[in-house]
Amino acid sequence: MNDDIPQLSDYNESSLDAAFATLGEEVRGESASLQDVEAFRLRWLGRKQGRLKLISDAWLKSAPAEARKPLGMRFNQLKQQIETALAEAEAAPAARAVKAGIDITLPGAVRAPGIEHPLLKTMNQIVAVFHHLGYSTALGPQVESDFYNFEALNFPPNHPARDTQDTLVLAGQQAKPSRDRLLMRTHTSPVQIRSMIAQAPPIRIVVPGNVYRNEAEDATHLARFQQVEGLCVDTNITFSDLKGTLDHAMKELFGSSVKTRFFPSFFPFTEPSADMQISCIFCGGKGCRKCKESGWIELLGCGMVDPAVFASVTEARRKLNPADDAYNPARISGFAFGMGVERIAMMRYGVASVATFYSNDLRFLEQFA
Ligand code: PHE
Repeated sequence: MNDDIPQLSDYNESSLDAAFATLGEEVRGESASLQDVEAFRLRWLGRKQGRLKLISDAWLKSAPAEARKPLGMRFNQLKQQIETALAEAEAAPAARAVKAGIDITLPGAVRAPGIEHPLLKTMNQIVAVFHHLGYSTALGPQVESDFYNFEALNFPPNHPARDTQDTLVLAGQQAKPSRDRLLMRTHTSPVQIRSMIAQAPPIRIVVPGNVYRNEAEDATHLARFQQVEGLCVDTNITFSDLKGTLDHAMKELFGSSVKTRFFPSFFPFTEPSADMQISCIFCGGKGCRKCKESGWIELLGCGMVDPAVFASVTEARRKLNPADDAYNPARISGFAFGMGVERIAMMRYGVASVATFYSNDLRFLEQFA
């Protein structure tokens, strides 16, 4: 450090001016591109090892008495220059940021706000329509037993109706009785059974969730897709409640001019069963390519809960309470419905291939922001 102390050859005015001019230049040079304000302060004004202190000690020690005053004046000026440079550096926002550990010259961290995936958004909208009617959400496992997925829903073992839902089964289940064998649920209907076993009527639930089928995948089918199920059980529930509820829900989802109609269908767990169609949302019912010129689009399956389903529920409930009679079909009735979320989302957003929803392509997803 001491090697760094400049020597003073003479104490006359011009030597002093020259020596201080050099020091002044040094300060100016360093403070012009100041990165670390604190290091600069220490280097010049440090109380023990600061340059100002070391130089003034060295020069004053051997100064003749008459040179002390001009020397002192010049040291004061130099000190002022350093302090001004420090004050300016500290006032600059960049210096303040560096002091706080932030480099404001770096580009900002742009954090894109997340959005609901279009399928989740559609599912939430469907669910919300039923929440407004007083339904609550119920959920169930995606790995399900044969009992809940089929047997209790009135699909007898080896019944051909099981073939309509190509099932993905778990390996290594052969040793179990057939009702205990595990499979990937093929629909959300098993949650009807779970909810009724757990809770006496009245029941009004919506069941959103993933379901799985061993499908050949094409533009409109994937092996994994999503459904929203509905179940209403109470006294005096009739087919007109089913129609009124679904007609209202479709008007909420697709607009008040949408019409609904019901066609006879078959599901083992509802009787009577129906397929519900809505008037084509693209042509308003006149007929176009989207509705194959029919003016109608098939949207969901529904029906009145089959008494055989109430019987399975009662059998299971009686294992817990032998006197249970909560689901006696002489006193209660209900309706159920199930719809595919992808199909509705494809229609609403004009998406041609269902796989697009699962491609995780930001260019697609950003359109829903
Ligand atoms: N679970 C049926 C399916 O996936 C749909 C459905 C639900 C039908 C409820 C009637 C009542 O095809």
